[in-house]
Amino acid sequence: MSNLKLFAKTFAGLESVLAEEVRNIGGKEIVIAKRGVGFSGDLALLYRANYTLRTALRILIEIQSFKAINEEQLYNAAKKIFWFEYLDIKQTFSVDATVNSKFFNHSHYVALKVKDAIVDAFREKIYKRPNVDTYAPDVKFNVHIDHDRVAISLDSSVDSLHLRGYRQSTGGAPLNECLAAGMILLSGWDRKTSFLDPMCGSGTLLIEASMMSRQVPAGYHRKKWGFMQWMNYNAALFAKIKAEENARILMQAPATITGYDKAFSMVRKARMNILMALADEYITIEKRDFFEISEVQPVAHIVTNPPYGERLEEGDMNLFCKKMGNVLKRYYPGSVAWIIQSKDEAMKHFGLKPSRKLPLMNGPLHCKFYKFEMYSGSRRQAKQNDNN
Ligand SMILES: C[S@@+](CC[C@H](N)C(=O)[O-])C[C@H]1O[C@@H](n2cnc3c(N)ncnc32)[C@H](O)[C@@H]1O
Repeated sequence: MSNLKLFAKTFAGLESVLAEEVRNIGGKEIVIAKRGVGFSGDLALLYRANYTLRTALRILIEIQSFKAINEEQLYNAAKKIFWFEYLDIKQTFSVDATVNSKFFNHSHYVALKVKDAIVDAFREKIYKRPNVDTYAPDVKFNVHIDHDRVAISLDSSVDSLHLRGYRQSTGGAPLNECLAAGMILLSGWDRKTSFLDPMCGSGTLLIEASMMSRQVPAGYHRKKWGFMQWMNYNAALFAKIKAEENARILMQAPATITGYDKAFSMVRKARMNILMALADEYITIEKRDFFEISEVQPVAHIVTNPPYGERLEEGDMNLFCKKMGNVLKRYYPGSVAWIIQSKDEAMKHFGLKPSRKLPLMNGPLHCKFYKFEMYSGSRRQAKQNDNN
């Protein structure tokens, strides 16, 4: 495994920050694609990518690519792959597929065809077949079809990399950890300015910010990666990479990190997650209503995921956004706020003009990630802002 063709998957909108992360760990031949980044590297880079990348959901290694325009061609080409190199008869496996092609309609059917090819390849050679386990396979393969190009890959992560290993308690709508990390990276936080999430829910943004600022690897609390089940797993190499990355962890936090939530139940959940992430020394969290504020606050870099108002009337959501804008204008001069929100219309009531607006997906929701800059001008300027 010297020069591997790798592909890190991510969410739409995070490709550029993921590419930067890949560059920082020494990835070569980086190509930004839709919801992912292609790159090349060796086994050490594959392990490092799995251990450190904050915005990658999984890392795939291409085994083979070929052209196919029907199921028969797909099955025949897949069956020729030397599967014995990747899968032992005693191991369980599963196949995932993503399809973007007029020749193939159903990703589920594509996955089944490749599964059949693997099983038949084993049966023809050794008269036995490996078992499928879709829930917790030892080895996971991925099929990606774009038009007539088929790429078959090994999934080196198996469980999605957003499963960092620190989350115990979730609130109603926790952010995916990779999305939270991506939002912080997109926001350009300098890791020195005080970080604030005033509606922190279960604390995902706070924990990701804390890990990032202290250079704690994304996978620090995780126990298991797919590649650990492979026949060629090099435990000594992985231990060496973990030790190298862990040696970079800073004992002192370079910035204060603060979270509020108005619901005590959420503050409790956040505290639990923060404890599990061993970050309680670095994050301050309080039960506080962001709208109940009466004095000017110190400058902060704010990144937050307020409610999307799924259970609110439209008018109430408009009012919520208006109140948020007012609090930021009046009490946070000199601060920057990045807000993810799915309600475009309600955000028009914010009363501040966003200086940036980036499209992001939060699960199935099409969102925008808004940047607001609250200038610390004169009182007259502040009054003018208030009147807008
Ligand atoms: C979408 S959730 C945040 C989820 C969070 N990012 C996570 O990963 O768990 C929004 C949070 O805002 C809180 N919230 C709503 N209004 C608030 C207010 N006025 N002040 C403080 N928190 C508020 C809610 O209690 C809820 O926990």
